[in-house]
Amino acid sequence: MTQNSINKAISYYQSNYDELFQQLLKILSIPSISTSKDHKEDIQRAADFLVVKLKELGFKKVKAYPTSRHPIIFGEYLTDPDKPTILIYGHYDVQPPDPLDQWETAPFEPKMRNDYLYARGSSDMKGQIWATLSALESILETGELSVNIKYILEGEEEIGSPSLDVFLEEHKSQLACDLVLNPDAGMLAPDKPTITYALRGMAYFELRVYGPKADLHSGVFGGVVANPANIISKMIAGMHDDKGHVTLPGFYDNVQKLSDEERVQLSKLGMDEEFYLKITHVPDLSGEVGYSPVERIGARPTLDVNGLYAGYIEPGAKTIIPAYAMAKISTRLVPDQDPNEVHQSLRTYLEENVPDSVRWELDLLSGAPAYISEEQAPGVEEFTEALQATWGVAPLKKREGGSIPVATSMKNILGVDSIITGFGLPGDQIHSPNERLHLPTHKKGVEALIRFFLSYQ
Ligand code: BES
Ligand code: MN
Repeated sequence: MTQNSINKAISYYQSNYDELFQQLLKILSIPSISTSKDHKEDIQRAADFLVVKLKELGFKKVKAYPTSRHPIIFGEYLTDPDKPTILIYGHYDVQPPDPLDQWETAPFEPKMRNDYLYARGSSDMKGQIWATLSALESILETGELSVNIKYILEGEEEIGSPSLDVFLEEHKSQLACDLVLNPDAGMLAPDKPTITYALRGMAYFELRVYGPKADLHSGVFGGVVANPANIISKMIAGMHDDKGHVTLPGFYDNVQKLSDEERVQLSKLGMDEEFYLKITHVPDLSGEVGYSPVERIGARPTLDVNGLYAGYIEPGAKTIIPAYAMAKISTRLVPDQDPNEVHQSLRTYLEENVPDSVRWELDLLSGAPAYISEEQAPGVEEFTEALQATWGVAPLKKREGGSIPVATSMKNILGVDSIITGFGLPGDQIHSPNERLHLPTHKKGVEALIRFFLSYQ
């Protein structure tokens, strides 16, 4: 019975693949860049597109709820109150495509090359939302669901989900569910289906350092007036010691230690030096002494400068002491670090170290604690079996270094764990030029999702 339903749904997917693919191209062509004020209408168009799709699939109460920035979409397909309810999370916003000149084809004109579909958002994560919708369409067009499905699709994930927590609080009963399916992570390789059980959190800062009222001649004033560029560089350099530890006071105080058992498990994932050298093309790796790459990514906090600006950056030379310097600094956090405490700790570091010859300001742009799920959270067994049946191998269970703040919010506010997964690959170039989606893996993902949704009978 189940096998028959699975076969029918998969064969529907195969015969209707072209049409579903065309629709995916449409949503990928919409530049729904959440951080940019110029793309508000595009965000709305992407939301409208998904609302229409959910309605076409027979979802009820489908609505794009306005927020102070970008709409949150809700929809539900209820079959039986006695059956479990799966809440599917997705984000339809994308990162800016810059630097544009490094794209081989335009970011919002999706193009196929070999097995890959190139477009901003193809992997992170319109393609992943599309995998869930394709699976549900294939099931609903060929039979019935025996599980309740709800969707929550936001347009602000890439800017730190500022409206999400309030929405979760205000719609708690509407969003009631047994588990969340969150396909915003990915797999380790095309033959390695993966479930992510932990994510890092983050605290993101902007630091501004002000010196003289205006840029000054660096010969006439150099040696008398402090240089904000020199000072911000020194502050940043002092944030790590020579063993790669972060020096902010108390930064590691609440960091949970990895158990020996988990270290052994993680060491088997193949996320070793070679793995990272190969995908990043760097001459050598770097990081905290005493931890392997997989541990440093998944279970150790880090601090990175994401952007740095000061002085004259046009071609040629200009001799000035700049009036201003700015750095975007983000920390990736692990259980049980608190973003507000990290904020305080960075503030203390600056208070103790920035000289009186300049003025500085620090803002916390966004903060979210890390996420770690229960060992045997609801749905994990069913999802594991669906991946196993599709790929013929047991899925890997890994920690992820990226952040999906919504997972923590769902746990704290709705009281549910998330199955964090997805069918993107480490080489998908998410947030980078030439983002892409590996279609053979995407298709397998749809099959696995069909099996998962049909595993509830
Ligand atoms: N999908 C990513 C997070 C991710 C990347 C998970 C790779 C697993 C593997 C997500 O869209 C993302 O980029 N999140 C931001 C969060 C931030 C803006 C609050 C991140 O990690 O930088
Ligand atoms: Mn992203």
